[in-house]
Amino acid sequence: MNVLVDVGYLIATVSFLGGLKFMSSPKSARLGNSVAAIGMILAVLCTFIALKTQTVPTTNIIVIAVAIVLGTVIGKLMADKVEMTAMPQLISLFNGAGGGCAVLLGVVEAKQQGIGDPNIGMQLLLLLGLVTGAVAASGSAIAYGKLAGKTKDNKGAAVVFGSRILLGLILLLPLLYFVGLLPISFESTAYALAIIALVYGVVFVLPIGGADMPVVISLLNSITGIATALAGFVYGNKAMISGGIFVGAAGILLTLLMCKAMNRSLIKVLAGKFKKTKASADTEVQNIKEITVSETAMQLSFASKIAIIPGYGLAVAQAQHLCGQLQQLLAKRETQVDFIIHPVAGRMPGHMNVLLAEANIDYEHLKEMDEVNSDMAHYDTVLIIGANDVVNPAAENNPDSPIFGMPIVKAYQSKQVVVMKRGMSKGYAGVSNDLFGMDNCSLLFGDAKDSLQNIINQLKLI
Ligand code: TAP
Repeated sequence: MNVLVDVGYLIATVSFLGGLKFMSSPKSARLGNSVAAIGMILAVLCTFIALKTQTVPTTNIIVIAVAIVLGTVIGKLMADKVEMTAMPQLISLFNGAGGGCAVLLGVVEAKQQGIGDPNIGMQLLLLLGLVTGAVAASGSAIAYGKLAGKTKDNKGAAVVFGSRILLGLILLLPLLYFVGLLPISFESTAYALAIIALVYGVVFVLPIGGADMPVVISLLNSITGIATALAGFVYGNKAMISGGIFVGAAGILLTLLMCKAMNRSLIKVLAGKFKKTKASADTEVQNIKEITVSETAMQLSFASKIAIIPGYGLAVAQAQHLCGQLQQLLAKRETQVDFIIHPVAGRMPGHMNVLLAEANIDYEHLKEMDEVNSDMAHYDTVLIIGANDVVNPAAENNPDSPIFGMPIVKAYQSKQVVVMKRGMSKGYAGVSNDLFGMDNCSLLFGDAKDSLQNIINQLKLI
């Protein structure tokens, strides 16, 4: 029977790997999700078989089965109901639930590990899993609150000082326990650590800016993965170990990739800091040229190759469906329209991919920034919809700018650029954008949804 369980876990592990591989492309991402989900179902079935052979009471198995059914129904209802734009909040909640599970496992197991001869290696793994799970659980709850606009940033000295004290305690308590200087049992040490780590998760996330939450969630996701893998070691469950390691590794990679694409170190993101701009480095943009809706429509009608660069403003305006309509309208006129996606456009990983997928835009029209950057001069018109930082040439030519070194879409190299925005507000990084004053660039002011609707109406008349 054990061999059957081990083979099942092996197949589950392979399917997690295959799922991750498929998820690396938008075309096969759904398949990837299904493959990984099948692997997870198999892992759960194998665990049930293993439980049966370990003579676990039937009542316990029934409780586990009921919990799984309840969790599946609640998860499905929540996932069906959620708006695409509220996805980071949902991920944060689910992640918090994962961390919470790791805490409960640790709390239950602490009693067992404290009985008889101590196995120090196991006790250490258990405490590590308990702490990481607790930080991920409460940290995710705060991240959820921030994304949902219910929790405010708090960079107060008390919060920052408190977080350092708690981190110190988290490191010190196990050390004191293992050298025999803590006059309490292992069980009590574990409970105390769980409470301290839960509070630490709160003060760890509170000071971080709301817009940095996607990076934080990805990091917390990685921490939950680590907690799961550690719990897997304690229980000797191979699927938990491999699944946890994949989540941990994928989460940390995504975190680092996001930081790289924003040209900020993880430490600075966690400290809620941006590089300071020298006063001379951020001058107001001169020579702004305004363009009207009919001029934009005319320009688009004459172009044979157009690029649309979406950004955060597209999400704010919820103009993705109109983007799709514009692309179809232009395609009927045999105009090539490419959507160029910057990896950190918007406020969450894959934000633009999600919005454009919602508008049923074909994958063949979606281009990664690196794929087209060397070809930008061949676009007759580039339409920038609510993007700012991700097209700011300061990232290439102003070493004093906080975004210097961040890869950008080289929109400035194309023949004509039209930027759709409501006013002269700066982007997320808070710096001016010299692109707006360049000779080949014009600004179409207004809400992106209204402007797009008006352009479509005009184009139909041309
Ligand atoms: P931003 O630089 O934030 O610029 C958004 C622009 O949209 C603003 O200039 C704003 O100008 C305009 N806008 C807002 N609402 C609009 C509306 N209803 N209609 C038209 N325009 C509107 O966006 P971006 O270029 O996408 O860059 C993303 C930034 O977020 C980067 O700095 C990135 O590092 C950061 N970030 C990204 C992530 C991820 S994972 N994607 C995570 C954290 C941070 P007006 O107000 O004048 O209209």
